[in-house]
Amino acid sequence: MIPFNIAHLTGREEKYLAESMSSRLLTGDGPFTERASKLISGLVGGGATLLTTSCTHALEMTALLLDLAEGDEVIMPSFTFVSTANAYVLRGATPVFVDCRPDTLNIDERLVEAAITPRTKAIVVVHYGGVACEMDEILAIARRHGVPVIEDNAHGFGGTYRGRALGSLGSMATQSFHATKNIQCGEGGALVLNEPALFERAEIIREKGTNRGQFFRGMVDKYRWVDVGSSYLPSDLLAAFLTAQLEGFDAIQKKRMRVWDTYHGELAAWAADNGVATPTIAEDREHPAHLYFLVMPDHDHQRRLIRHLGDAGILGVFHYVPLDSAPVGVERGRTAPGGCPVTADVSQRLVRLPLFPDLSESDQARVIDAVTSFELA
Ligand SMILES: Cc1ncc(COP(=O)(O)O)c(C=O)c1O
Repeated sequence: MIPFNIAHLTGREEKYLAESMSSRLLTGDGPFTERASKLISGLVGGGATLLTTSCTHALEMTALLLDLAEGDEVIMPSFTFVSTANAYVLRGATPVFVDCRPDTLNIDERLVEAAITPRTKAIVVVHYGGVACEMDEILAIARRHGVPVIEDNAHGFGGTYRGRALGSLGSMATQSFHATKNIQCGEGGALVLNEPALFERAEIIREKGTNRGQFFRGMVDKYRWVDVGSSYLPSDLLAAFLTAQLEGFDAIQKKRMRVWDTYHGELAAWAADNGVATPTIAEDREHPAHLYFLVMPDHDHQRRLIRHLGDAGILGVFHYVPLDSAPVGVERGRTAPGGCPVTADVSQRLVRLPLFPDLSESDQARVIDAVTSFELA
């Protein structure tokens, strides 16, 4: 079976894990956390980075930093992972679901302004597959209404928009280092703060609501409970693993890009002949080769292609089940004017192909053969 993903190892993970173990500095915010955080900041445009246990937890931290109250609203795409919405629902806020663009599958910037109300506290964007949202338009809307933009940058590590790194465009950005992501430590994440004023409180929220970080830096004589918080910092062991991955970023990206470019080149003619859409990348942005997907003509072809790939020993996967029509989305959310017809349609047609650095040329050729031998009725 060719799986959808195999976690990649750079070869340095064991060495760094052994170093971390022999140092006995295993709690959060140890030497590897500092090293990994600096590398992340360098790759996402310079914002201050706090490592977290997941992107889900980094999103929860943004919700705490926003001081959300019952009835506040947070605008986001319906076409995203549940964590984008859960983070704000946990604080009593209402997610307001906006439809996606049919080309990039990102939040449709033309629909964002109509979703804003006096209760809107933030706009959350997701750069699907690491291809940037229409950020200039979205940032202009946010400025006009005085609300912050948060980038759920789970897919976008290493991508750019008009020469700027994804993760540097919103006031905060969240990263995922889950095993399926380009850089991974099994489960992990980061919160990137592009407004320096947010750092002090974010550090406290991440350390159970205490000023423990300030205590260790000698700024206060004891640490106390000073804010509402939780435990969002990972062990330095995970940071050691992550450091090895981050140091191997360029090599990882080269391998992923080869796989992505091969799919894009080899499937172009078949896709055009059969009315199948492939990723759209505008010239003003670079993607980090996070996903490769096909948008089939209809739902029946989505189901049939996934089955056809399965028969050939290949795992093809759909993406996302729309949040606006999911049980909790209906109960706890609101859908922006016009609904989310594009999201409903695309989620019934999209198929993701295996993409990971160690996908061999021969296995990828098998995937391409399986796709191009699929007959569209
Ligand atoms: C857009 C998006 N946001 C958040 C997450 C959650 O990431 P994590 O597993 O690191 O919590 C995911 C997971 O894939 C995602 O796709």
